[in-house]
Amino acid sequence: MSSRIWARNRETRGKWPPRVSDNRQSPAKPALPVPAPFRRTKNKCLRRRFRVTVTRDRVILYRMTLAHATPAFHPHGAPSRLERTLAHARSAFPILARRNYLNSCSLGALSNRAEERLGDFTALWHELGAAAWYEHWWASLSDLRCRIEALFAAPDGTVALMPSTSACLASVTSSLDWKRRNRIVTTELDFPTLLYQWKVRPDVEMVVLESPDGVHIDPQQFADAVDERTLAIATSHVFFTTGAIQDLAAIAGIARRAGAYSLIDGYQGAGQVPVDLPATGVDFYTSGPLKWLCGGPGLAYLYVRDELIPQLEPTVTSWFATEDQFHFNPGEFRYHRDARRFELGTPALATVHTAIGGQEIVDEVGMAAIRAQNAALTERLVGRLGMAGFSLRVSDRPETRSAIVLVRHESPGDAVASLAERGIIVDSRPGVVRVSPHFYNTLDEVDETVEALAATV
Ligand SMILES: Cc1ncc(COP(=O)(O)O)c(C=O)c1O
Repeated sequence: MSSRIWARNRETRGKWPPRVSDNRQSPAKPALPVPAPFRRTKNKCLRRRFRVTVTRDRVILYRMTLAHATPAFHPHGAPSRLERTLAHARSAFPILARRNYLNSCSLGALSNRAEERLGDFTALWHELGAAAWYEHWWASLSDLRCRIEALFAAPDGTVALMPSTSACLASVTSSLDWKRRNRIVTTELDFPTLLYQWKVRPDVEMVVLESPDGVHIDPQQFADAVDERTLAIATSHVFFTTGAIQDLAAIAGIARRAGAYSLIDGYQGAGQVPVDLPATGVDFYTSGPLKWLCGGPGLAYLYVRDELIPQLEPTVTSWFATEDQFHFNPGEFRYHRDARRFELGTPALATVHTAIGGQEIVDEVGMAAIRAQNAALTERLVGRLGMAGFSLRVSDRPETRSAIVLVRHESPGDAVASLAERGIIVDSRPGVVRVSPHFYNTLDEVDETVEALAATV
């Protein structure tokens, strides 16, 4: 495969409709021939690993994944392909040359690719003004939706661009039949915005499961809590409080068997843990570019299971949710046939562009490689912290451990400040220092952080 296809062409970037069969583009879309294997394929793996892009005069294939899941580090000999890929990806994040940045669970690092995409956006704004919408930005929205669908291994038309997780939850909530059932099962380990959706509604009964070990919720707890009054199980993919990864297929199955929905907050999941949403059977999944997808603040992603989409009509809505958006007819509203029926107005375009930049890197490295690298960094962190005598609030099983590592500490705020003086960026929550490496970090950075933390006790 020639190197020409690895990089986007500067001249035509942004003009490209990102998906051959995408009927969601602006009307002026050239129909060009597409190579037969790609036109025909329904093979998800193939579709995930390659992106077909049609320019005005040629068809270009992008390889989405540069590396496969192999051990993260070879202690001896030449660097492996994965090491080279990771080193290359690392060089795209300028902060890493200045700081030891281990706080991706709060905010993913900014890459120069994201900055470049943002620069393209502002340059077009200067150059074309509103005309940039039709030729470029409309396609960027579609590009991002498509990339996130690929990230979720989800069918076309199942992802909506939203302003925030809270907005996703509000929109989904408005589409459900609360007269039929009015109980939500959630947990004490979930992010507060999830619970707040229903805390403010006196008509909704919330069951908040407690974690026996302060780290996990056993799927059986969900099974015991759901009944014929339960409208949804609402919980996280990865708990921000403990980093524990939940079994989405088990949760979705429990909800489905009880006639309830599964609504998953995946903000701490997507980007650090591979997600195949159709395989799990979850009904709703929310995420966003802010953290593990390295795309910045101002946007969120809402996945809705495709069979559900035509059945749901959100009552919090916008002109982006209607099929005839450009008829500008206030007297008529028809829901979009795809997940855009959940959208809530013009997405934050600057973030759309930084998110595409971050997503390009994530796609190039590949989720399997990211998970393998993050697991290697996490195991090193957990092992070294244990040796240094720290008590951790993390899963005891590596397979359900993510790269969010909570370290019990007497004065977490002081420890974070002390590390910051040494150029190490981590975070704190009550009673804990939170360390969250990502694929762009190294084992040396992990070791340096443990050493610095040990000096704070
Ligand atoms: C698990 C989780 N959900 C949601 C959010 C943010 O929600 P919103 O996008 O509404 O600000 C965060 C952010 O910190 C989070 O960690």
